[in-house]
Amino acid sequence: MKVQGQHFRSIWLEQESQVVMVIDQQQLPFRFEIKQLATVADAATAIADMVVRGAPLIGATAACGLLLAAAKDPSDEHLSSAADVLLAARPTAVNLRWAVERILPRILAVAPSDRFDLARIQVEELCEEDIAGNSRIGDHGFGLLQELYLQRSTEQPLNILTHCNAGWLATVDWGTALAPIFKAYDAGLQVHVWVDETRPRNQGASLTAWELQAHGVPHTLIVDNAGGHLMQRGQVDICIVGSDRTARNGDVCNKIGTYLKALAAYDNGIPFYAAVPSPTIDWSCRDGIKEIPIEERAAEEVLFITGALDDGQTVKVRIAPEGNQSANPAFDVTPHRLVTGIITDRGICGADEESLLKLYPEQRSSSEA
Ligand code: MRU
Repeated sequence: MKVQGQHFRSIWLEQESQVVMVIDQQQLPFRFEIKQLATVADAATAIADMVVRGAPLIGATAACGLLLAAAKDPSDEHLSSAADVLLAARPTAVNLRWAVERILPRILAVAPSDRFDLARIQVEELCEEDIAGNSRIGDHGFGLLQELYLQRSTEQPLNILTHCNAGWLATVDWGTALAPIFKAYDAGLQVHVWVDETRPRNQGASLTAWELQAHGVPHTLIVDNAGGHLMQRGQVDICIVGSDRTARNGDVCNKIGTYLKALAAYDNGIPFYAAVPSPTIDWSCRDGIKEIPIEERAAEEVLFITGALDDGQTVKVRIAPEGNQSANPAFDVTPHRLVTGIITDRGICGADEESLLKLYPEQRSSSEA
């Protein structure tokens, strides 16, 4: 995607792959800053502190963390402990585990002297696959939006509601939930996006609104509680969200608040789709509500908010009485019965095991395990 006319990915390698560069998402929308990650600890901290975030980008950063570890010390012991450090960074997005489990055995299978070179190839392959997969999600989702647009008897823009940030910043490029929107907009379809601010960290306000603005896509920022009202008024045609982990039964785990949007969409007969790249499907998880670990983040995220003063200086201010308790579950699970469909890189399917398996027949045998 482009930032002021220059093409960027959210993560890339430099200095002969000895360092990893990322867009520092803690600084957006106020400052566009690039941050360098030089060690596996840097990569794990960037994930935990949400310098990088979004399930696919967390996976790509973990892959890069293994590369940085191999650059320093390619021994079995060092790489295995690097993997443990990365796996502990955040619990919910399954892409982290997927990336580590994909790359670690491959590099351990070759001689230590070849591990760094192989890790670089693996990282590049994973990032290219991420981009291609998200682009396909964009194509499939665009078809869906076009169909919906043509079904309506109005020439008003198609109103899409999204939650959190599932745009290109959350992936290596393109995004998941936003990829169909970028493709639709580029093709000339009239779209308008309702952007949930997404408390407590405001990924909608800081990241999704920033991305859509940079691309020129018409959008309106709303508080998290406005969605239901807009749906009742007929001002939402479709909801598309991302996912951090989708269970094999079609339950969709995503940013906290997604479930409430799905309930409101269901009550109002509005289609609710999740855009889910293949690595986000956890085939070992049979029941998302019972089994997906939900990250509990620091109380500080709820008790304080960061914003910019008129002079551009960013400040963090308290918004609750001092000494207040807070709970901060970062994700929730939308039961599959509320999900109209899943937009994958292989096509769109129903949110249930049989429909998912039709797209992923190679996972059938794992269901018998
Ligand atoms: O806590 P975050 O910002 O990492 O949460 C991100 C989300 O919930 C996204 O919707 C999800 O990762 C999909 S990203 C393509």
